[in-house]
Amino acid sequence: MESWVGIGIVGLGFVGERAHLPSFRSIPSARLVAVADVDTERARRAAEKFKVKSAYSSHIDLVRDPEVDAVVISVPTFLHRQIAVDAARAGKHILCEMPLAPTLQEAQEIVDEAEAAGIIFMPSLNFRFTPNYVKVKELIASGSIGAPVAAFYREFIAAEELAQQWPANSWAWDEEKSGGGPGFTLSIWSIDLLRWLLQADIVEVCSFSRDVVLKQFGGTIGYNRLSVLKFSNGAVAGLEFSGLVRPAMSVSRLELLCDSLNSLIAEGNERVILHRAEPDRQEWIFREKGPRVWGHLQEDQHFVESILMKKRPTVTPEDALKAQEAAARIVNG
Ligand SMILES: NC(=O)c1ccc[n+]([C@@H]2O[C@H](COP(=O)([O-])OP(=O)(O)OC[C@H]3O[C@@H](n4cnc5c(N)ncnc54)[C@H](O)[C@@H]3O)[C@@H](O)[C@H]2O)c1
Repeated sequence: MESWVGIGIVGLGFVGERAHLPSFRSIPSARLVAVADVDTERARRAAEKFKVKSAYSSHIDLVRDPEVDAVVISVPTFLHRQIAVDAARAGKHILCEMPLAPTLQEAQEIVDEAEAAGIIFMPSLNFRFTPNYVKVKELIASGSIGAPVAAFYREFIAAEELAQQWPANSWAWDEEKSGGGPGFTLSIWSIDLLRWLLQADIVEVCSFSRDVVLKQFGGTIGYNRLSVLKFSNGAVAGLEFSGLVRPAMSVSRLELLCDSLNSLIAEGNERVILHRAEPDRQEWIFREKGPRVWGHLQEDQHFVESILMKKRPTVTPEDALKAQEAAARIVNG
């Protein structure tokens, strides 16, 4: 058995350079051997900074590189399919950013190609590796706090932060290229989180939205989406997403209410609070740094271990398709 995996990353934007590059660099059983970006200068700079042997301007060259065992796809969503097909046909394992593709049909094509090639395919659903959500999962799995029957999740992202990450001319605001704008893209991870924590599928979705064009950021969108979900086990959830706030109003907060009257709160990525019969209150604080905060490093580590051990990752293509399907239903009302 090989003791390490050769990694090639395609797409060195927000998530490629800030999350996956430093993550794979620090995983002992991974060797970051190649990067590719159509922005040649960006690829060259990243290779220099992270000491990567090969920098390419096309994914084709990266996929052909014999030192690359696995390809990380972190290009804009509408480009995932072609790169995934080329990588799968070259026999390379794939970690694919989410959403898998703008449409469910293209996402299914990616999954089918990976299946036919017999490679390890893992969708990047990193909330399952985020330390405070892992704690929430452990508390539920312990059976000691009862079963969660209602969930409330709020995620407000500052309009100016979104505009910095994705300027108005970015693919991310284009409905066709992204599959439904940031409101679609950014709901994927929390939907998957709820499926994972509640251990159930989403059977009904009711959604309302109101978007505002933000001229001060060149035409980005201040989206607002309110959704109510019903799960196959009877659990219900309320989701609130907004990109129409200033930084001081940025928040991510999950509340889970259990049939035992206990409740769990996950605030940002720093804190979990468990309320039992008053005054029993327990709190856990997480002070992770770098790409561990959002779970990217732990996710990437799991991907590498799955390849080395020839085991199916715990996060499956079906999880990706189900999260994407629900996100599309939320966006489309
Ligand atoms: N897991 C997460 O936390 C997370 C967060 C944000 C975005 N995402 C997802 O990651 C993907 C990328 O998002 P982003 O925000 O990093 O995008 P981005 O626009 O910041 O970066 C995309 C990068 O891909 C490069 N690129 C474009 N076309 C290319 C091609 N044909 N070949 C090689 N490189 C190419 C661009 O030059 C750019 O460097 C999207 O699918 C998005 O939904 C995931």
